[in-house]
Amino acid sequence: MTVSTTFTPLEESLFLTLYARALDARRDRPILGDAQAGRIVNEVGYDFGRLHPDTNLILNVALRARKLDQVAAAFRARNPDAIGLDLGAGLDTRLARLPSFPAADWYDVDLPEVAEARRRLVPGGNVIAADVRDPGWLDAIPAGRPAVIAADGLMGFLTRDELITLWKRLLDRFPSGEIIFNSYTRFAVRVARHARGTSSVAGLIRFPGMDDPREPEQWDQRLHLVREILLSREPEVAEFPRGWRWYHRLAAHSTAWSRTGTIVLHYRFDRRSETT
Ligand SMILES: C[S@@+](CC[C@H](N)C(=O)[O-])C[C@H]1O[C@@H](n2cnc3c(N)ncnc32)[C@H](O)[C@@H]1O
Repeated sequence: MTVSTTFTPLEESLFLTLYARALDARRDRPILGDAQAGRIVNEVGYDFGRLHPDTNLILNVALRARKLDQVAAAFRARNPDAIGLDLGAGLDTRLARLPSFPAADWYDVDLPEVAEARRRLVPGGNVIAADVRDPGWLDAIPAGRPAVIAADGLMGFLTRDELITLWKRLLDRFPSGEIIFNSYTRFAVRVARHARGTSSVAGLIRFPGMDDPREPEQWDQRLHLVREILLSREPEVAEFPRGWRWYHRLAAHSTAWSRTGTIVLHYRFDRRSETT
């Protein structure tokens, strides 16, 4: 099956993260261990030889996905009526990694061509074909229930204003919830624009970068930072191959240095506590 022929470069960006997770699963000590990613890589008919994810990118993509999974699973455990959203889901198989999340309560959102491919290749979950910048797509998702909202690899493709508008719409829609996404500092954006491993997406980056994880609290006062997750400081680094393990352990001593790598930002919101 070949789905990629009609994809725009923006949509094609999903192949880099998909491939990184497939390569992680092939490692002796996978960080995420997503076997489904390898299956999709084999079925999708894309020339993955065009992509050059280096080991650090593979480790970071796998670990950030794992962090988003952990937050989504914990949220559902605390909120049995929760729904889950994955914005810019691509061909990620997050739902399969969340066995306690019923497929009926999960919504994967991506642009129409990707959504179409997703329906064919990734089982489970509701698929919404939409540009997240458009108003209206949230109408397909039930309001009134707590929501955990993941966005893995999407933020870099939105401008700051588009991101602010998106978060506001999400906060207007759901009474409470959590948002978790990977973020980039301004320095990391500059690096991504020039590094070989991310050359396939370099020209598509529109987000200017964000150095202060508390900045979104100024965008919307309903948002509260839960945790800035600096991947260099996460326990899974112990599973990294030796060279990268030592690099991240060194980086972990410095917040500034750790922030040059992958950052996952986790926020909560709750309409009931707006006045607190
Ligand atoms: C880097 S890929 C990440 C895909 C997936 N989350 C993953 O981790 O493999 C970015 C995804 O965001 C989607 N995307 C980019 N801009 C979008 C938008 N405005 N609305 C919906 N999806 C968008 C792309 O089509 C692509 O699937």
